[in-house]
Amino acid sequence: MVIPVSPPSGFRFLPGHFDREAQAALIAAVMDATQSAPFWRPTMPRTGQPLSVMMTNFGPLGWVTDKAKGYRYEPAHPQTGAPWPAMPQALLDLWAAVSDFPAPPEACLVNWYGPDSKMGLHVDWDEEATDAAVVSISLGDKARFRIGGPERKGRTSSLVLSSGDVVVLGGEARRCYHGVDRIYPGTSTLLPEAHFPGGGRINLTMRRGTIPG
Ligand code: SIN
Ligand code: FE2
Repeated sequence: MVIPVSPPSGFRFLPGHFDREAQAALIAAVMDATQSAPFWRPTMPRTGQPLSVMMTNFGPLGWVTDKAKGYRYEPAHPQTGAPWPAMPQALLDLWAAVSDFPAPPEACLVNWYGPDSKMGLHVDWDEEATDAAVVSISLGDKARFRIGGPERKGRTSSLVLSSGDVVVLGGEARRCYHGVDRIYPGTSTLLPEAHFPGGGRINLTMRRGTIPG
């Protein structure tokens, strides 16, 4: 996969980082986690508009959003009130290998994209530790990922992410706008239909929430 125009520095693309077996193990971990932390559909701050992705989290903190309180990290699931399930070791290992940060991640957001889901351009900026990279893993159907610069209106480039690919947003890329234009439905058989009706794509995004003390 060739990246069409040069991405911001600190952007790293590790195609095929996880093989099929490792991908299946991560999906099994997601299915296991959803027994206590089911996918829910978050809503946008102020408007209450539902997101097109469903979400859950791993780790001591989880990223959530709703109409009343907006974007934030919470230690518990908004519907069950239970703590988020522990982060799988494979994710902690990936973070240790690629994040270049001296402390473990606190949150792993699990986004489930259906065939029509997308994610508008945004910057991940709800963390205190903005010097820690964002590390993201693609599982299931392919997606067109878009990344620009620190200004919303800046020039962007895009690349297709496939199951097993890893993207690291560190350095300059950490404060760059990015999003997902579209999913390519039916391009992967990784997600079991019984657990993920309609299939789609799972994105796991690890972040450090707080500054290590
Ligand atoms: C995100 O930016 O939160 C998700 C990116 C992705 O789904 O690849
Ligand atoms: Fe993001």
